[in-house]
Amino acid sequence: MKYESNYCISRRGFLAAVASAAASASLRPVRASAVDERSLKVAPGKARFGDADGPFTPVWAYHGTIPGPTLRLRQGQPVRITVENGLDEDTTVHWHGIRLPNAMDGVPGLTQPPIGPGESFVYEFTPPDAGTFWYHPHTDSLVQLGSGLAGPLIVEEAEPAAFDRDLLWLLQDWRLTKDGQIAGGFGSMMDASMSGRVGNVVTINGQAPTDQSVRAGERVRLRLANAALARMMALRFEGHRPVIVAVDGQPCEPHEPADGRLVLAPATRIDVVLDMQGDPGSRHAVIDDFYDGLAYMLTNLAYDKRPPLRAHPLDARLALPRNPLPAPNLANAVRQEIVLQGGMMGGGKLAGVGGMMGMGMPGMKGSPAWAINGMSMTGDGHAGMAPQFTLERGATCRLTMRNETAWWHPMHVHGFSLAVLSRNGAPVPHRQWQDTVLLAPKDVIECAFVADNPGDWMLHCHVADHQMAGLMTVFRVT
Ligand code: C2O
Ligand code: CU
Ligand code: CU
Repeated sequence: MKYESNYCISRRGFLAAVASAAASASLRPVRASAVDERSLKVAPGKARFGDADGPFTPVWAYHGTIPGPTLRLRQGQPVRITVENGLDEDTTVHWHGIRLPNAMDGVPGLTQPPIGPGESFVYEFTPPDAGTFWYHPHTDSLVQLGSGLAGPLIVEEAEPAAFDRDLLWLLQDWRLTKDGQIAGGFGSMMDASMSGRVGNVVTINGQAPTDQSVRAGERVRLRLANAALARMMALRFEGHRPVIVAVDGQPCEPHEPADGRLVLAPATRIDVVLDMQGDPGSRHAVIDDFYDGLAYMLTNLAYDKRPPLRAHPLDARLALPRNPLPAPNLANAVRQEIVLQGGMMGGGKLAGVGGMMGMGMPGMKGSPAWAINGMSMTGDGHAGMAPQFTLERGATCRLTMRNETAWWHPMHVHGFSLAVLSRNGAPVPHRQWQDTVLLAPKDVIECAFVADNPGDWMLHCHVADHQMAGLMTVFRVT
């Protein structure tokens, strides 16, 4: 094991890192090229989000747990994951953010036949990038994701990064009835044409959050992942200064977020480094204040009584090793533009879409409320979706995304990571690559990527109601 020469860490932290590397190493095959075999069973189950006397909530789960088991994979090591469908409807699994072969992307009809009840499907890929990813269904997405199907996927760096602890908060948002059941009404016109199905209970790793215990002086890598259907979040850590080291799994230049707020749209992941500089025994709120006037306390960082782990914050470098992303050639790029249209405007009128498409009641279950470049593709993906544009393999695509609607949209691209160049004409700093880019109302985003991976790829809003109601398209790489 070797660390960069400007790396310095206490002996204790170093030993902890070595020990954890050794412990995880013993759990996997010796040869890095050996195939890592995993399995995931999808089935109905039940969960208890609150305390022991609270109600059970019937859910759908991977391996019976909410969220699904954390898949810890190794960068560059092939993996084979057998998914067994124990639901009585079709499903698929999408490995969100992983750059993998098109046939493994989990889009029903488009990249694979759906996995029927009682059937299995074997996914095989080799994760090229280390970082924080997640997995979820791409079939009946609104109901399946909203019923609990989501799990974290962590691809470990070849050399372990040095932190005292590596934590993950997978955030989910549930719309529950008073007796703790998942509320019906998925895909209502209101949700579909406005902000999507925002719930009333937020969980961290499947639990209604209680205090998160921390130790003074420790350095934590906290992986935040928003697996909600629709809820945007903006987290503030009172009394702390989180430093962003990766977005959507891709390392960036370490930086503190604007206003100290970590904005997490659905499907977004942010890795932060937190130096726990509070006093032993103190408590500090973590607030989500994304929605005006609806701020709430998500959880608390609760310091235990132990003396600080070290006297001064670590002096180690924070930057993570970058992933092998192909560099866009901007001088020679193909330009494409995606215009987001539709949704409810002031006065309850639906913008454009219905008339343009000549369809019945826009936004009604299954009919479009949104469009991309005048076209509404609804649902989860299906065979024969005509590509919006075609790119030659190896070409750099300079993609403009223009939000003409009055709503926020986290736009997600499958199979690629996008270098985010500018927002409303202003350059985006810190060399950020993302697979999910949040557009505020009227935002114009420019990004670029190299079309190095052949196939038909989805590009859609990750607010599940928006995707289902038409905010989705496909492009082809030949
Ligand atoms: Cu995580 Cu098509 O999405
Ligand atoms: Cu995806
Ligand atoms: Cu949207």
